[in-house]
Amino acid sequence: MIPSAPSSRTCKIVAVDGPAGSGKSSVCSEVCRQLGWTYVNTGFLYRSIALIARQRNQRLDDNEALSGIINEFCEALQWDPKTQAVGFHGQNLSPQLYTDQAGKDASSIAKNPLVRELLLPLQRKLTLQSPVGAIVDGRDIGTVVFPDADLKIFMTASLEVRALRRMGQLQEGQQPDPAELEAIKTSILQRDQQDAKRGTAPLIQAPDAIVFDTSDLDIKGSIDAMIQLIKTHIKV
Ligand code: DC
Repeated sequence: MIPSAPSSRTCKIVAVDGPAGSGKSSVCSEVCRQLGWTYVNTGFLYRSIALIARQRNQRLDDNEALSGIINEFCEALQWDPKTQAVGFHGQNLSPQLYTDQAGKDASSIAKNPLVRELLLPLQRKLTLQSPVGAIVDGRDIGTVVFPDADLKIFMTASLEVRALRRMGQLQEGQQPDPAELEAIKTSILQRDQQDAKRGTAPLIQAPDAIVFDTSDLDIKGSIDAMIQLIKTHIKV
């Protein structure tokens, strides 16, 4: 039984969902910096749990081991919202969190309803500590974590653009290696499908979310457009 979202809060909340590589973290973190808001990238929680399980040689489908790790993680997590640094028992997890393997492992444990249920209160707690406003990104933020968000955005981009961004090769004049581009597209597509087809809290656009397609925007254009969206819908 998933507890419902808290009914009273003082900070503004913008929920951002969308597929892998749509630019959520680079855009949302800079928008928060400019607005003086807190950025909560919920993917780091799934990535951390999967990484710790791997480090301890636990299976990623062992519910007992995963719930033990999550309980311990909720107690020992040191998270800096300004730098997004993630510490656990004094170990800096950040350098290992954003590998392709950690993303795949995170997507794999994110299918597990128990993992989702146990991580839900932590996502809300980290967000509600924000003094003014927060942008929270993930896959189920507008549907499950904060269905009462002040604004919901579904951020997306074409598969081609997302793959090119992943390769860091959107800059003019660079010719991506076609085989590498295809491999990255396949990997992104597999993760999208795994996230969208799971039974619990799948990646879907909330009915009241605004679709924000960044395919034709560069990073600055995306940041400016998101700030505009927020200022149009919320008094900031
Ligand atoms: O946003 P990300 O790529 O760091 O997320 C890693 C994986 O974690 C993603 O493939 C699915 C899962 N995830 C999720 O299921 N729900 C969230 N709110 C955030 C991430």
